[in-house]
Amino acid sequence: MNKYHLGVIGLGVMGKNLALNAESKGFSSAGYTRSAERTRAFAAEAKGKNIFATNSLTEFVQALEEPRRILVMVTAGKAVDEVLTELKPYLKPEDIVIDGGNSHYKDTERRAKELEASGLRFFGMGVSGGEEGALRGPSLMPGGHEDAYRHLEPVLTRMAAQTSDGPCCTYLGPGGAGHYVKMIHNAIEYGILQLICESYDILKNVLGLTVPQMHDLMNEWNHSDLNSYLLEITTLVLGKKDPETGQPLVELILDEAEQKGTGKWAAQDSMDLGVAIPTLAYAVEARILSGQRADRLAASAVLRGPSAKFSGDRKAFETALREAYRAAVIICYAQGFEQLRIASAEHHYNLNYAEIARIWKGGCIIRAKLLDPIQLAFKNNPQLPNLMVEPNFARVLNSATESLRQAVRVAFEIGTPCLAYATCLGYFDSYRQSRLPANLLQALRDCFGAHTYHRIDKPGVFHTEWAKTN
Ligand code: 6PG
Repeated sequence: MNKYHLGVIGLGVMGKNLALNAESKGFSSAGYTRSAERTRAFAAEAKGKNIFATNSLTEFVQALEEPRRILVMVTAGKAVDEVLTELKPYLKPEDIVIDGGNSHYKDTERRAKELEASGLRFFGMGVSGGEEGALRGPSLMPGGHEDAYRHLEPVLTRMAAQTSDGPCCTYLGPGGAGHYVKMIHNAIEYGILQLICESYDILKNVLGLTVPQMHDLMNEWNHSDLNSYLLEITTLVLGKKDPETGQPLVELILDEAEQKGTGKWAAQDSMDLGVAIPTLAYAVEARILSGQRADRLAASAVLRGPSAKFSGDRKAFETALREAYRAAVIICYAQGFEQLRIASAEHHYNLNYAEIARIWKGGCIIRAKLLDPIQLAFKNNPQLPNLMVEPNFARVLNSATESLRQAVRVAFEIGTPCLAYATCLGYFDSYRQSRLPANLLQALRDCFGAHTYHRIDKPGVFHTEWAKTN
């Protein structure tokens, strides 16, 4: 009997499309799901292809060439553990199980230890690109034992999106490295999405632009060096009319954001690591605030903003906002890579940041032209402490933050919230200070709690009786 190259467990949209993707690249695949109905539907869809569908786990496992490559595509959390428990008795040492869901990296590290105790090999792999990416070529972020990756590499690199710079898949590091990198990908995704939403809000409430006018402006941004997938779909969304009312559909959508958790995990983990990612963390809070709609509606009748109206040069302000966006997006990436740098040291991932930028250039949600210079920056200096200080980015930021300052100032004057933009500016301004007011903070901590402080003029640890007269 012919053995199949890749097994996929979970035939939801992502699992199904990844199986079809592998087959289209020359790797026969077997798909398993418990549901007989879903198995039948998948078999019908895969008719004529080198794909086998079954709802029998025994049949599924026996159909795969050894050592097996099994990609698990089920909802992150309990379902992954259930699948692994069910699957384990059927596997042989050396078989490789890949979790391609948005799992928490700590779960991946725990699962890897548990499976490796039985001689099995476990991979945590971030998959980005949504439904379309899964079918045509996603960005793949695998982490686990490097020797196991060598067995996966021929399949994964063919399944991944292809760019002129190679496939959007590379070995990232041991343990939970793959899911860690995916978590940061999503945190950057959250930050940029929030910047786009604030741009829309500023254009609407500061300049009074209509949705079609915003569409045209965003389209211009996207056809410049700011080109990105997220800007591209913004123009798509802004251009869509509601067939019933003829109004821009976006204006009819309830303003309550939802989330699945990866952005929140990144923010939580940043606190544990002691790394500042104010914009990426705020992007999570912005979603939380949007969810308090009833409270906001009540408050809108009580709390008042300024009555100021925009009175400047409208075209010049549009240009300033574009430059503000440029600066802020760079600063979002800077925060994400900063967290990766600290996490890599903490977890011994030995991450290659130039490679991470490279595999984000195609297939994934945050793919953007900007990743070319980011890749180059880390290639030239793998130890770069922060993207903002790389000479080319420093030059761009020193100029574009003037526009960022202007955009934030004007939006604040009018009372349009833009905290993602403001946190980018605040992060830039904090990071460039040779002296922050933490000296006063240390004095206050010492005053109320005898927490001690260091001095700039002599070594040692000091405590002062602040209330005592000298
Ligand atoms: C991707 C996306 C994908 C998913 C996010 C959405 O890279 O393809 O990030 O993983 O769309 O989980 O996250 P929220 O539901 O939290 O916005």
